[in-house]
Amino acid sequence: MTQIQEDGKRAAGEAALQYVPDGALIGLGTGSTVKYFIMALGEKVKAGFRVQAIPTSQATAHLAQKLNIPLLPFEGEWELDLAVDGADQVDSQFQLIKGGGGALLREKIVAAAARQFIVIVDEAKCVPVLGMPWPIPVEVIPFGWPNTQRHILGLGWASKLRKKNNEVVRTDEGNFILDVEVDRIEDAGTVEAQLNGIPGVVENGLFVNQTSMVIVGGTQGIHIKKRPAH
Ligand code: 5RP
Repeated sequence: MTQIQEDGKRAAGEAALQYVPDGALIGLGTGSTVKYFIMALGEKVKAGFRVQAIPTSQATAHLAQKLNIPLLPFEGEWELDLAVDGADQVDSQFQLIKGGGGALLREKIVAAAARQFIVIVDEAKCVPVLGMPWPIPVEVIPFGWPNTQRHILGLGWASKLRKKNNEVVRTDEGNFILDVEVDRIEDAGTVEAQLNGIPGVVENGLFVNQTSMVIVGGTQGIHIKKRPAH
């Protein structure tokens, strides 16, 4: 991670704060970019700003609790004013690959519950076309996971079971992640549907037509791109 990227993350994270109205119900994403947003939000809460938040991971929940940001119940039904989250890749059509941090399932549920989904990235995340060298993280249930992997291979895509320090990574829901290698994702909606159609797949990290706005932090400062209304 270069200093330029780190600065970009911070700038994007802090810039997202202007879109949070007092009293908002808000989804909090996961990762090193959204951490800057949450820390800045925590400062405002300390100064009397009112929000209620639903975190997309245990890690984010811990951070929010540490900052005294009030949390909504995990098993509730939420209608969120907005959700703010990072991404691993963003293309020119506002489609995303997410899940580098393994939180894609909760992230997608929260993004889908929000009227506005704001994505914050440093400029290294912006690509013309989604795909390798960044794989699509696919959350699968542990039961029979090699069968699930074989079905994915049947669609033409190799995948690797995600491990960390030689241990299989478990998501917050207790599932595994297969990192699926797709070269050029021209039609993200079709690939998303194909992956989710396989038995054993819980969700995948392609976020299609969900993004309302991308805030890019880069060497030239902040660049805000709004997705045209459909
Ligand atoms: C976690 C995610 C993150 O938003 C994504 O991996 C970007 O993370 P970072 O801001 O640390 O680069 O999808 O599941």
